[in-house]
Amino acid sequence: MIREIGSEFWLDNIPKESQNEVPNWLSIYGDTILASSGRGAISLLLQQVTPRYKSVLLPAYICDSVILPFIEQGYSCYFYKINNDLSPNIESIKSYENIGLFLHMGYYGFSTNSNLLSVLQDFKEQSVIIIEDITHTLFSSVNRFEENDFYVGSIRKWFGLPGGGFISSSKRILKRTALYTNDGFSKLRIAALAAKGKYVKTRDENLKDLFLNQFSRAESLLDRDVAPYCIDGLSMDLINFIDSDELVSKRRMNFKTLSEGLKSVSYLDPFFNDLTKNACPLFYPVMIKNNRDDIKKKLAEEKIYCPVHWPVSDQIKDRHLESTLGIYNSILSIPCDQRYGIIDMERIISVLKCL
Ligand SMILES: Cc1ncc(COP(=O)(O)O)c(C=O)c1O
Repeated sequence: MIREIGSEFWLDNIPKESQNEVPNWLSIYGDTILASSGRGAISLLLQQVTPRYKSVLLPAYICDSVILPFIEQGYSCYFYKINNDLSPNIESIKSYENIGLFLHMGYYGFSTNSNLLSVLQDFKEQSVIIIEDITHTLFSSVNRFEENDFYVGSIRKWFGLPGGGFISSSKRILKRTALYTNDGFSKLRIAALAAKGKYVKTRDENLKDLFLNQFSRAESLLDRDVAPYCIDGLSMDLINFIDSDELVSKRRMNFKTLSEGLKSVSYLDPFFNDLTKNACPLFYPVMIKNNRDDIKKKLAEEKIYCPVHWPVSDQIKDRHLESTLGIYNSILSIPCDQRYGIIDMERIISVLKCL
């Protein structure tokens, strides 16, 4: 039976000791509060700030869940274009006025936002509050802009844990209010991760419907409630337990294998040809111009599950952002995470070569 590649993580090693510390790879961003999700952390951030204008300028290439907390808090949301190489379009950013909050991010582990310095300096002069979403660059040692006021992110995209989001600031001491845990969400995620762990060990196909249903119900709970909750105890233990050096080196190795092996596949255009020195990739994203959905389906038939980041949010659909829509319509994320090794990457390459 062939090994599945991609899709949700699972729980395998449960730490024996309890931890209550913020791990080093997060505390470097300053004072930190851990929440149960990235969107909850953004809601928490919105409780900390009083911007000059109740408006936010967000990248047009973004997950719906990042937009939701701003809408919920009554912010007007505007979107700037993202270029085909995933860098922010400076002209598009400059075309907006009266912005209260500005959010930027690097994609897939790379500092695609490194062209922002002069824009951020201008924003600073206008007292715009600057937020970097570091979900995708969490394990990359890239230089961060001094102009950033806050960092936010979601942790559960990187390894198997029930929940995890954070807000950090090196400029301010964050206001702390008592947060409840989101028990319904955490319990469902723990059950789903455990059932998937059992499935991976036993290959019992009967478990598949169960954990897929549990994962999907947990996501719906989050979509319906973006309020801030405290991180659960198991996730706290797991984020302290993870070997981040191993995570980085395995991902880099897998990325390099894909990058080398896929050079001769003419229907794929990689977004990143070089793995820069300090980058830790989230995925190996490629552009497939004509038949992306077909390729995704054929890969799934071979048990290789490649997500599409992201479905186009309703907030973005009707705005004049055609250039950014090209990314949504053609991107495919190939897994290169620490669960896998060279043999798995070589299987992906050989399947893609035969399609
Ligand atoms: C860049 C980015 N930030 C934040 C979030 C929200 O994270 P969560 O799903 O933990 O709420 C996501 C979700 O996909 C994301 O892609």
